[in-house]
Amino acid sequence: MKIIVLNGSPKGDVSVTMQYVGYLQKVMPEHEFQITNVALQVKRLENDKEAFAAVIEKVRQSDAVLWAFPLYVLVVHGNYKRFIELISERGVRDAFTGKYAAALSTSIHFFDHTSHNYIHAICDDLEMRFVDSFSADMNDLFKPECREQLTHFGRQFLHAIETKGATPRRYPALQPREFVYEPGNKSAGLPVGDKKIVIVHDEDDPHSNLGKMIARFRNRLDGNIDEINIRQLKINGCLGCLQCSSKNECFYTGKDDYIEFYRSTVMTADILIYAGRMVDRWLSSRWKTYFDRIFCNSHTPVLQNKQVALLVSGPYSQEQNIEETVRGFFQFQGANYLGYVSDEFGTSSEIDALLDRLAASALESAENRYLRPQTFLGEGGMKIFRDEMYGRLRTVFMADHQAYKRLGIYKTFPQNQFGIMMLNFFVAPLVNLAPIRKKFDSMMIEQMVQPLKKLVEQSKL
Ligand SMILES: Cc1cc2nc3c(=O)[nH]c(=O)nc-3n(C[C@H](O)[C@H](O)[C@H](O)COP(=O)(O)O)c2cc1C
Repeated sequence: MKIIVLNGSPKGDVSVTMQYVGYLQKVMPEHEFQITNVALQVKRLENDKEAFAAVIEKVRQSDAVLWAFPLYVLVVHGNYKRFIELISERGVRDAFTGKYAAALSTSIHFFDHTSHNYIHAICDDLEMRFVDSFSADMNDLFKPECREQLTHFGRQFLHAIETKGATPRRYPALQPREFVYEPGNKSAGLPVGDKKIVIVHDEDDPHSNLGKMIARFRNRLDGNIDEINIRQLKINGCLGCLQCSSKNECFYTGKDDYIEFYRSTVMTADILIYAGRMVDRWLSSRWKTYFDRIFCNSHTPVLQNKQVALLVSGPYSQEQNIEETVRGFFQFQGANYLGYVSDEFGTSSEIDALLDRLAASALESAENRYLRPQTFLGEGGMKIFRDEMYGRLRTVFMADHQAYKRLGIYKTFPQNQFGIMMLNFFVAPLVNLAPIRKKFDSMMIEQMVQPLKKLVEQSKL
């Protein structure tokens, strides 16, 4: 069998993920794994139609496609997404239709599931036959049990291709609606006072639904508002070089517009609005490139206490996976995500009302420094980073380690909390003596509520 491997690493052959592919090739020498570095070469594939056609021809000649990629900021690298966009833009979806596919990634398991959901959905959109996903930790290959499981994954994939095994579709096709948004008369502008408001978007057409939604939101506010189109900034794709990891100094500092823009405009905002269109199952690859470059702050939350929201055109709520990445990203960044307004539902005047309300609630929340409790996405994500920075990644990510110390993130380790340690050391063994435990169990529900009840009673208006 001939498997084309679409490599999503911007590092090309010098990629952790490709070592996993190399292992598959080693244990299955009877099959050919043909690696194509699509993320590394995306600029050439974009500009050189023959080079792109050659890759597509390889896809046509193959028996199956292995999407092999590293995680880059909650999804796939912007270049990989661009390659995926080119498949539809250049009208070559038929090269993929009906082909068997599988996904193999390496990461530290921070939102690996959302990248796999994304790739699976793309395969469903291309009407491929998606067999399975394998999400390995970047160091798993050192473990014999991982190598065994990886071999099993490879064999299952090959078996499905050889036997033309049945594969289920998981993601229904997105159904964008035909709708032209016509904003009505604007309400009086809300004074923004000393709050800094920044709208970042990638929309070139002011007459599109998104262009008009941005204008409606901006006009609802009275004051200085920064509006930036990221297509007009020079933003290079993240190289994955990790040069930022020691001092948060990106390789591209001074070489493109991103670092200066992010530090002076985005990180100083009180209210941050991102606006974009759905392009396949996520925002545009331009947006993805923007998000990838956020890695120059590595794993440190730098949007703390900001009010953020999304304006979006397209079938956003049909694709919960993207909302999960957006929500998760802002939570672990310490921001208050106010949600999104899209053009999917309702009349123009209903969308006006939603945009007006978003503007008012963003201002009010900024005034009151509103910060909702994080959900599993932010809590769980931060715990992964905390453990990684304290542990195996510290040597490389020294800037994160220093920041985590400064921000008190390591204080959340239970072993660093004196009260909890005392409770576990002295009270836990005592309470778990059989006769005491019996009594304790009978009082448990009441005891859980008692201190909270007391707090409510003693609270003043
Ligand atoms: C810019 C950047 C962003 C990353 N984002 C994530 C992420 O969101 N989640 C995760 O689990 N790992 C993330 N990683 C870790 C990589 O996915 C991991 O190191 C992977 O093995 C790299 O594979 P490669 O060498 O094939 O590119 C990121 C690494 C870099 C450099």
